[in-house]
Amino acid sequence: MRPSLLDPPDLKADLAAGLAAARARTLALLEPVPDEDLLTQHSTLMSPLVWDLAHIGFFEELWLVRRVGGERPLLDRDELYDAFRHGRAERAALPLLTPAVARDYVDRVRERALAVLDRVELDPDDPLLRDGYVFAMIAQHEHQHGETMLATLNLRDAEYPFEEPATPPAAPARAPERRVHGGPFAMGTDDRSRAYDNERLRHERHVETFWIDTLPVTNGAFLEFVEDGGEPPEFWSREPDGSWSRRRLGRREPVPLDEPVQHVSWHQADAFAHWAGRRLPTEAEWEKAAEGAGAGNLAERFGPEPAGSDPDGASDWGVEQLLGDVWEWTASDFEPYPGFEAFPYAEYSEVFFGGGYKVLRGGSWATHPAATRVTFRNWDFPVRRQIFAGFRTARA
Ligand code: AVJ
Ligand code: FE
Repeated sequence: MRPSLLDPPDLKADLAAGLAAARARTLALLEPVPDEDLLTQHSTLMSPLVWDLAHIGFFEELWLVRRVGGERPLLDRDELYDAFRHGRAERAALPLLTPAVARDYVDRVRERALAVLDRVELDPDDPLLRDGYVFAMIAQHEHQHGETMLATLNLRDAEYPFEEPATPPAAPARAPERRVHGGPFAMGTDDRSRAYDNERLRHERHVETFWIDTLPVTNGAFLEFVEDGGEPPEFWSREPDGSWSRRRLGRREPVPLDEPVQHVSWHQADAFAHWAGRRLPTEAEWEKAAEGAGAGNLAERFGPEPAGSDPDGASDWGVEQLLGDVWEWTASDFEPYPGFEAFPYAEYSEVFFGGGYKVLRGGSWATHPAATRVTFRNWDFPVRRQIFAGFRTARA
């Protein structure tokens, strides 16, 4: 036998390790939060944190324990934790599991899920099991809720304790924009081992030659727009001395001018671009500009690194800091690619197509590498500002 990373024993160990890492992160994020706060609706935009916790367990139970394992339900409260039954603003009023019960529930689900992983054959003819897809999907889902929980923690009034590595040094000056040659390119992926359905199928797109910012738009650049009448990002305040501060995870601190701007809506990003005589890149342009990009700051710190701090992650076109730090709004609506097929469930992507959502690309400081790819597509309403979203601009 030829040993390879995809041989079931190693693959199963990798999948179990991926699940363990996601859980360690979830528990570490919630550890400093008092139980009472986990039950609080901190904003109508977000769920109470205890809902995310139990929903993580419920989703794992649904797919790994019930569907793959064929086991009986561990919890009989499906409608509470189905994201489509109750909007985020309604969830605190539901008879949710208490924090202690939710922690015990997610533990019990995990024990069953690992037993299922141990005994199931990762049948290459079953798209759910091939390469361990559904086990990786569950870890990816938990990490996505890790980012959601960070957005909630950032909306709380209370100070969230965190330590982070020292800020990397400011970057040397470089050309402000890069030229990306037009022509046909292959957009999306045919990967069925980790990618979501909305990233498929890989298909040919044509883009005209365009220029795109080498780096994400910084707080300093956005400040000029604000001083010229633009709306400031969420969480910014003007101090009596005229300077600007921001609230981050319950702390007030001076706005760091060399950091990528975040907490701007699509409308603010679009307005800045026009003010600067430019425009937002389309989703296709973004993906083309990202060819060969490496990942930078993902789930390493509790905020973005300064613009230009990750030259090693530059794409083949010399565009930097594409994966990590801040999500980037694009000009594009969230729509399916040609040949799209919902897999394994329509509620991940399909029900959102045509819903007035704008696509974001790249991943933020709160995104985990397990949920980050050049082809990964995120989406939200163009008014949203609580997510860790910034942007870069482009021109013909
Ligand atoms: C891809 C971030 C838009 O939070 O609605 C989590 C991710 N899907 N659970 C969302 C997701 C199901 C999704 N976004
Ligand atoms: Fe979810």
